[in-house]
Order: sequence, then C-alpha cells, then structure tokens
Amino acid sequence: MNPFLEIAIEAAREAGTILREGYERPKEISYKGDADLVTEFDRRSEAVIVAKLRDRFPDHAIVAEEGSGGSPANARFCWYVDPLDGTTNFAHGYPCFAVSIGLLENGEPIVAVVLNPVSQELFTAIRGEGAFLGDKRIHVSPVEKLVASLVSTGFPTHQRANSVNINYYWEFTLRSHGVRRDGSAALDLCSVACGRFDAFWEFGLNSWDTAAGMLIVKEAGGMVTNLSGQLYRPGDRDILASNGRIHAEVQQVAAMVAARGASPKVSA
Ligand code: IPD
Ligand code: CA
Ligand code: CA
Repeated sequence: MNPFLEIAIEAAREAGTILREGYERPKEISYKGDADLVTEFDRRSEAVIVAKLRDRFPDHAIVAEEGSGGSPANARFCWYVDPLDGTTNFAHGYPCFAVSIGLLENGEPIVAVVLNPVSQELFTAIRGEGAFLGDKRIHVSPVEKLVASLVSTGFPTHQRANSVNINYYWEFTLRSHGVRRDGSAALDLCSVACGRFDAFWEFGLNSWDTAAGMLIVKEAGGMVTNLSGQLYRPGDRDILASNGRIHAEVQQVAAMVAARGASPKVSA
C-alpha cells in the first residue's frame, strides 16, 4: 500500500478510537468563537495524528486546526489535518463527524483519508488511483439536473450574521429535492463522492476542512471549483463540489443569487 496512505489511515483510526470513546461520555465544551466549539477530544485526536505524522515523515509540514502542527512553510509535502470535523455534532451526540487528513505535494492533493468513527465509514483516495469507501470504489451520481438533485451546504461558526449563505440555501431549496446541512464539510464532500449528494457548496471553509474531501470527490469523477468555476485550492473563500453534470447549473443559480446582492441581514 502507498506508505502515505497507510500511515494516514493508521492515524485516522487511532484518532477515531479517541473520538468514539469521547462521543459516549459527557464532555466539557469551550468556545473559540460565538458558536465555534472545541472539546478536549479535538485536541487529543490532533495530538495522536500529528505525533504519528511527525514520527514517520519528519521532513513534511503539518497544518492542523488546533495549532499543534505548525505552518506550511515551503515544504514539498504538507499534511492538512482536521482532527474532528463536525465538533458541534460531536458535542450534541449527533453521529456525523469525521477525522480528515489530506496530503498535498507542491500544493496538489495526492492522498486523502476521511473517517467517520461512529459508522466506521472510511473514505480514501490517491491521486490518479480512484476513490474508495472501505475497499469499494466509489463514483459520483449520474443525476443530470438540479431539480432532481439532493445538495448540501454548511454555515460558518464565526461572524454568522455576516454570512450570505442563507440566500443561497433558500434558492437551492426551491430548485432541488432539498438542501441538507449535515455539519461536517469533510463528510459532505465524501457524500458527493459516493453519490449520496449531487453537489455541495460552502463559504469560508479552511484548508483542513477540504484538503482530503476535495481529492476524494475528484477521484470519484466529480468536479471541485469555487462558485465562479475557477480551480479550487484548499482555503479558498468558497467551494463548489459536484458530480460534474449539474456543476454549470449550480454555478448559474449561485451567480444569480450573487447578482441580486442579497444582504446577509439576519440576527446573530
Ligand atoms: C465545521 C464543519 C461544518 C462547517 C463549518 C466548519 P469544525 O468544522 O465542517 O460542516 O459548516 O464551516 O467550521 O469546526 O467542526 O471542524
Ligand atoms: Ca472542520
Ligand atoms: Ca475541527
């Protein structure tokens, strides 16, 4: 097996065991922002992943959400780690959260692992070698039209009153079978990859939220851009991932919402 993938899976499984145990216990929650939660399990999960990656790949850079990695510097290889994507779900006992680990080489995603520790679903991808759920190859959906699609999005946990996304949510709800808001961007991307969702968009995600999931979507035959259709890079302001077939239509609707200049005026 590819040694990067092998270690990333090992790290995700170790972290997943910690999260699985923590999930069943009462937890202490602290706040990084108005609704931005963090628990001791985010930090413990990150600690085991970072320790393993550092031990096995001492020359690689690591960027991890809770800060124990460091900065990307100019390293050829850089790991992006979200030790618990979906902390709000985790804290409330909603079994939709993940460990997300992505490796970029010179800025290009090459290895991806996303694990849901409750369902034990393990999504993986290596650039050029396809995407997998467990040992089964996965593919995006064949849906051709937005009107027949199930799509998903998410909302920021910082500066919520400034988010314009409610306007997009409203429009896409009326034009599709529905919009899901599952609370884990990494799993949302994997759901596009395996055809559960036909598209996913969000504003304001960080590199650790998307580095793994974006490769899994691409390797499953999907498309990942920003909402304007340009190449998406981890950490860009907005992301649109889809089965490819409805990509242009989603972009057109998004452009229409943007052109309306809908204001983000909702109370916090
Ligand atoms: C969050 C989740 C959520 C998304 C938020 C993210 P976190 O990550 O991915 O789905 O809507 O924007 O911040 O904070 O649980 O790692
Ligand atoms: Ca996250
Ligand atoms: Ca997180």
